[in-house]
Parts: sequence; C-alpha cells; structure tokens
Amino acid sequence: MTGAVVVVGAGGMGREAVDVARAAGRRVVGVVDDGPSEHDLVRLARLDVPFLGGVDGWIASGSTTPWVVGIGAPSVRRSIAARLAPLAPAAPALVHPAATLGSDVTLDVGTIVCAGARISTHVRIGRHVHLLANSATGHDVVIGDHVSINPGAVVSGAVTVGRDSLVGAGSTVLQQLRVGERCVVAAAACVVRDVADDLVVRGVPAR
Ligand SMILES: CC(C)(COP(=O)(O)OP(=O)(O)OC[C@H]1O[C@@H](n2cnc3c(N)ncnc32)[C@H](O)[C@@H]1OP(=O)(O)O)[C@@H](O)C(=O)NCCC(=O)NCCS
Repeated sequence: MTGAVVVVGAGGMGREAVDVARAAGRRVVGVVDDGPSEHDLVRLARLDVPFLGGVDGWIASGSTTPWVVGIGAPSVRRSIAARLAPLAPAAPALVHPAATLGSDVTLDVGTIVCAGARISTHVRIGRHVHLLANSATGHDVVIGDHVSINPGAVVSGAVTVGRDSLVGAGSTVLQQLRVGERCVVAAAACVVRDVADDLVVRGVPAR
C-alpha cells in the first residue's frame, strides 16, 4: 500500500476509481457522495468500502486524506475538485497496472487511468482527467484538466483536448487537431477538423 485515498462519487465511475486505486496499491478509506442511490450504497458495501457521507460533511471533518473525484461529467468534476482543493491535496494520479504508459508521460494530480488505457510517448495530461478502459492516447497529445476520454476512444498523435471536454466512447479524433474547451465529442464520432470551444459534435465526419 502506497497511501490512503478517498474517492468522491459512489456511482459507476466512483466505483471504477475504487478498483483502480486498489489495483494501484492504494488503501481506499471510503467514498463521499452527496446523494448516492440505494443501489450504489449496496454496491459499495459489496466492495467493502465505507460510505463517508456528503461532500460538505467531509470538508467539515477537516480530513487530510488525499482524494480523487470519480464522477464522469467534467463540469461536475471541476466544481467538486475546486471545493475540495483547500481541504487536502488531491491524490497523485491513479494508474491501473493493466494500463500502459510510454516514455515521457506526465500525469497531474487526481487523474485516473483505467485498465487497458494506452498512453503513447511525450504526452501531457492535466489534473482530474479520466482515461477510461481501452482508450488510446497518441504521441505528443496534450489533455487539459477535467477531461474524460471515454472507453475505446482514440485520440491521435499531437492532438490537443481543451479543459472540461468529453471525448465519447468509441470516437476518434484525427491527428494534430484541437478539440476546444468544454466540448463533447459524441460516442462513435470521427473528428476531422478542429472543434471550437463549447461545441457538441457528432457523426462521421463530426459536425
Ligand atoms: C452526443 C450526445 C452528447 C448527445 O446527448 P443528448 O444531447 O442527451 O442527446 P439526445 O439523446 O437527446 O439525442 C439528440 C439527438 O442526437 C442523436 N445522437 C445522440 N447521440 C449520438 C451519437 N453518439 N452520434 C450521433 N447522433 C447521436 C440522437 O439520435 C438525437 O437525434 P434526433 O434529434 O435526430 O432524434 C451523447 O449522446 C453522447 O454521445 N455522449 C457521449 C457519451 C459516452 O461516451 N458514453 C459512454 C460513457 S462510458
């Protein structure tokens, strides 16, 4: 065990984060969530992870345990990370041992790399980024804070993805393009030209 961590989010991504943390050798102290469903609480119990209550209560506790946000929506992740920042440091990146990283890859705090994610060489990845199962992040890619690269997505070489964007499951962003900030690339889309900030693009070619 290389350190304790608290996961924020009892939903699917939060429980994936628990799995990644444990596989990476961390001790998961518990899960914080403002409104977990009954199903999520049952699932947490099945993982033998304590439920620690809501975010405000956890902040009031003055905890110094490092944390990650296991919530899929980038904008929600951003706002929760901002609330927690004064409390305790975010945990160093959690990387599942079944992910692969090339040379000269930097991962900032709070980032979660799931099993099967592939990261090529000379890649810069920001804070609180989620790289989901079987996503492929190419050489020389730059990914901003709070981005989600969903399962099976392909981010080709030298692409830039702006902060708070979501690259949908099974989509492809072709090489050297820029996806702006707060964008959504729809599941299964193929991005063939730059995407301006705040756009949702879908289809092949994506528009
Ligand atoms: C594109 C997306 C953001 C649209 O979400 P939304 O605004 O809630 O969309 P709706 O479901 O209301 O559908 C709106 C229209 O977009 C179409 N649409 C939805 N998703 C689409 C996709 N991936 N590709 C193409 N068209 C899509 C719908 O058929 C609908 O078309 P219509 O108006 O002709 O009926 C969403 O469907 C998506 O692909 N998000 C990525 C999710 C993802 O990666 N999930 C995996 C999680 S692990």
